Amino acid sequence: MQQNISTYDFAGKKAIVRVDFNVPLNEKFEITDDTRIRAAIPTLKKVLEKGGALIIMSHLGRPKGVTEKFSLKHILGRVEELLGVPVKFAEDCQKADEQVAALKMGEVLVLENLRFYAEEEGKPRGLAEDATDEEKKAAKAALKESQKKFVAKLASYADCYINDAFGTAHRAHASTALIAEYFPNDKMFGYVMEGEIKAIDRVLKTPEHPVTAIIGGAKVSSKIGIIEHLFDAVDNMIIGGGMVYTFKKAQGGKIGKSLCEDDQMDLALNIL
Ligand code: 3PG
Repeated sequence: MQQNISTYDFAGKKAIVRVDFNVPLNEKFEITDDTRIRAAIPTLKKVLEKGGALIIMSHLGRPKGVTEKFSLKHILGRVEELLGVPVKFAEDCQKADEQVAALKMGEVLVLENLRFYAEEEGKPRGLAEDATDEEKKAAKAALKESQKKFVAKLASYADCYINDAFGTAHRAHASTALIAEYFPNDKMFGYVMEGEIKAIDRVLKTPEHPVTAIIGGAKVSSKIGIIEHLFDAVDNMIIGGGMVYTFKKAQGGKIGKSLCEDDQMDLALNIL
């Protein structure tokens, strides 16, 4: 059954919410832009207002194991301020059973960075550079098995699942794609996700011309589907971000050491 955050009955339920709290921090671990945290607040408040409890999970950065710099403890204060309630912290996202069991309705628990575990992304870590294909295959298979336990643990914490991590929606990670399968009748998008989908739907289905799309990002390869899809819908397209250099180089330009996907230059020319 398709669920909706506005109508779902959260009373007496623990909701595990995947947010994108991947916010920039300075060298003192202070948040320099809290936009992503503020964006998730309406979703989080909805659960609390409707009588539920919150288990919040996110990634921060791209750690390759437990790394102080990427601990979500650095953002707890800001979440607390914005939510207006105290926030508890589980220092290990896989060992939160007791804290989850003790969580009362109206309370909030933030789990430590999911990416401290390789299981979140499902990419083996620590493989020797000269690892053979066989070794890589074995490591991947082993990780796939432990990933099942990882995601089952996260799912066991809650009665329902909300995905509001738009910035991570393109990745099939444990806390996004895999966990959703554990909640066939109790999963939904949050307001950030809903807003983004509505916005793109408006542009694609009922556009007010002229429409200009501005597309950023580092890689042409991961945006090509979107670019091609938007061709028919927009009047102008502005391409920015790191992927610009692939276009520039494809046209014979000099880009120094800037980011470039050499194998995507033909594609870039085709797009142009
Ligand atoms: C982002 O900042 O783009 C999102 O949080 C996703 O992060 P990632 O590219 O490291 O998966």
